[in-house]
Amino acid sequence: MRSVFVTQFGRADVIEVRDVPVPEPGAGQVLVRVHVAGLNYADIMQRKGLYPGGPQPPFPAGFEIAGTVEAVGPGDSVWKPGDEVMGFCLGGYSEYAATDANKLMPKPPALDFRRAAAIPCQYLTAYHTLFTLGGLSAGQTVLIQAAAGGLGTLLVQCAKNAGAAVIGTCSTAEKCELLASIGCDHPINYTGADFEDEVKRITGGAGCELVVESVGGKVFDKSIQCIKTRGRLITLGFASGKPRSVQAQLLLVKNITVSGFHLFGYVSDAEAAAHAMRDLQAWLDAGTLDVIVKHVYPLEAAAQAQRDIADRKTMGKVVLEIVS
Ligand SMILES: NC(=O)c1ccc[n+]([C@@H]2O[C@H](COP(=O)([O-])OP(=O)(O)OC[C@H]3O[C@@H](n4cnc5c(N)ncnc54)[C@H](OP(=O)(O)O)[C@@H]3O)[C@@H](O)[C@H]2O)c1
Repeated sequence: MRSVFVTQFGRADVIEVRDVPVPEPGAGQVLVRVHVAGLNYADIMQRKGLYPGGPQPPFPAGFEIAGTVEAVGPGDSVWKPGDEVMGFCLGGYSEYAATDANKLMPKPPALDFRRAAAIPCQYLTAYHTLFTLGGLSAGQTVLIQAAAGGLGTLLVQCAKNAGAAVIGTCSTAEKCELLASIGCDHPINYTGADFEDEVKRITGGAGCELVVESVGGKVFDKSIQCIKTRGRLITLGFASGKPRSVQAQLLLVKNITVSGFHLFGYVSDAEAAAHAMRDLQAWLDAGTLDVIVKHVYPLEAAAQAQRDIADRKTMGKVVLEIVS
């Protein structure tokens, strides 16, 4: 089978498509025929060797998939061949992936494989950040950085579904248009306006109850200034490659909280996951949430897909389509 490997840490040209044997599912595992692999910014950080605790090269790229069950390993399984699933694995940019049965979820019938490929990582991250950790509720205001990205477009829609007011930042007018089309109340193109000034103007100087920050560097520093008294900033990543620290003095003066979020600390929380999937189904049924998929690449173009995300050329979810 074809599988995309990161051969060494570095730029996207270290990516190589290899011909490798189809994996055998072990006890408690499932072999999935991958229809669509989701790309995530974490794939780029892993390739660069910047992902904390990430794999050592050579390693198969990707961890988010949607597809059909091809076979199940020895022992009882909740899955059977032909089931449509989405979930996590090692080596998702591949024609087949063997993964633990409990890392898979049923694909909602309302979603095609392209859209389903955004649910395991980006939707669950958006949901748990805003609600499980962030406690966002109706009437509050949330600031979302990189709002037009894969995670960002889901954060915006989840927050709107909860009745919050949403301020979202992005780098182009086209991205602002996309944000407005999915309900973002205040899209800000940060290349033409200072987002900190804009947040102060929009909130009458008060700031936001919740700030979701994934860029790092100066964006993190300025985001701290956008938190309302007794509000919270959740740091999810550092796409700029520049993780930041925060002075304790700043926290106490405004009674603010800065929290870290990493999805893998939440995936085994069955109750939180059930809430997330219940709300997803309700929002899909109501037509108030969609996964925006604007960039679909073949497996062989994995390097180009990662380049385009890192160069900020993409909006919404980016996928590799392996079975069309
Ligand atoms: N902690 C977790 O569990 C978790 C889970 C999922 C994602 N994340 C994090 O959430 C962020 C978004 O992930 P994603 O996969 O949905 O990616 P994405 O948002 O689709 O792509 C990254 C976006 O970041 C913005 N950006 C700002 N500064 C950048 C820079 N210096 N270089 C590159 N991009 C920059 C760009 O948007 P503009 O052009 O509009 O600025 C770009 O489109 C990433 O930091 C990722 O690591 C964390």
